[in-house]
Amino acid sequence: MPAIVLIGAQWGDEGKGKATDLLGSRVDYVVKFNGGNNAGHTVVVGDKKYALHLLPSGILTPGVTPVIANGVVVDVEVLFHELEALGSRGVDVSRLLVSANAHVITAYHRTIDKVTERFLGKRQIGTTGRGIGPAYADKINRVGIRIQDLFDEGILRQKVEAALDLKNHILLKVYNRRSIAADEVIDDLLSYTERLRPMVADTSLVLNRALDEGKTVLFEGGQATMLDVDHGTYPFVTSSNATSGGAATGSGVAPNRIDRVIAVVKAYTTRVGAGPFPTELFDESGEFLRSQGFEFGTTTGRPRRTGWYDAPVARYTARINGVTDFVLTKLDVLTGLPTIPVCVAYDVDGVRVDEVPVSQSDFHHAKPIYETFEGWSEDITGARTFSDLPPAAQRYVLAVEEMSGSRISAIGVGPSRDAIISRHDLLE
Ligand code: IMP
Repeated sequence: MPAIVLIGAQWGDEGKGKATDLLGSRVDYVVKFNGGNNAGHTVVVGDKKYALHLLPSGILTPGVTPVIANGVVVDVEVLFHELEALGSRGVDVSRLLVSANAHVITAYHRTIDKVTERFLGKRQIGTTGRGIGPAYADKINRVGIRIQDLFDEGILRQKVEAALDLKNHILLKVYNRRSIAADEVIDDLLSYTERLRPMVADTSLVLNRALDEGKTVLFEGGQATMLDVDHGTYPFVTSSNATSGGAATGSGVAPNRIDRVIAVVKAYTTRVGAGPFPTELFDESGEFLRSQGFEFGTTTGRPRRTGWYDAPVARYTARINGVTDFVLTKLDVLTGLPTIPVCVAYDVDGVRVDEVPVSQSDFHHAKPIYETFEGWSEDITGARTFSDLPPAAQRYVLAVEEMSGSRISAIGVGPSRDAIISRHDLLE
């Protein structure tokens, strides 16, 4: 059975839960390989709704082993908060595994995230304020704290003191904030050690053995391709690799073990935070997409920016990730629009450009060139086969598929779990 990578194709919040639901009971392990509690997914099980930020969605599926792998940055306080919330509602959280090599988000990372954003003023990224960027910065700077450090108080002390040495100067002298006491951070982290101990594992070994035994492993990417630190709209990105390559480095499972790459793409586009977004709408159509699609952030509650489908972005995603299947979500949100524009290329300073431009300035200047499709007014939330869709909706899906560089294997037609049309088996 295969290793499957599931990623977001645009700027996040594409609704990865639809693809997870389709794979359902066929998955044995769900692995979070990047990001931290900047993500947010609302999962509905039975009549209960759960908002998860750090834990992989697989924690809710009986029989699945959820894994937080080495590429993740873990806010231990949030980890236990989510575990307790689920535990008190009767969800069995005992199978969770956490990589000894995952990095830890501490109080000083959260503080630095907030003060740097404030300091940037108009140039701010619009981060989630969860300390993600500063924790990854410390990892790359080789002054990070790893989960395994929590089990050696001497090492932990050395590392926290070394990290705070410079940071306190900056907090005090540049940002005019109070310094942070190493003891407070260390005591706080050590308070979790005993509860953490049974979960900590060599998750690379566990996952490779699972694949050897023929188990199915789902690598669930946080954020999305256009927020990837290497391939996204830098610097308006998150600080991790949200693309399929990140699943290998972020988990210790080699790229040649990955069989399928599923990208989830909305039938239109949304983005939270700052940065270029060529098809963004500022008129009533944008408001229509926001209200029909309920486009407000799960983590921060911020209204999402909205725009039309951007085919060059989807093609870019197909290329960067090696997408085998797209899952097109929220097609029902477009119901009621008389016409639906799709961006097919860009006009960059008077020149037609068919692919996402490599230059950031060009992408900032890119004006969408649209092809317009006929809309439909019939309710499609009950459609369960492709032929149940009105002809105009079928034409929209086929046109978008043709432009996007890979097959559309499933289509989300409503918020309920079963509101999905399956066209091809995602594992074949
Ligand atoms: P950070 O990940 O908190 O550093 O935020 C960096 C950028 O990524 C900001 O524009 C955030 O709004 C965006 N971002 C981070 N996580 C998500 C997510 O799960 N969905 C959508 N945008 C996100």
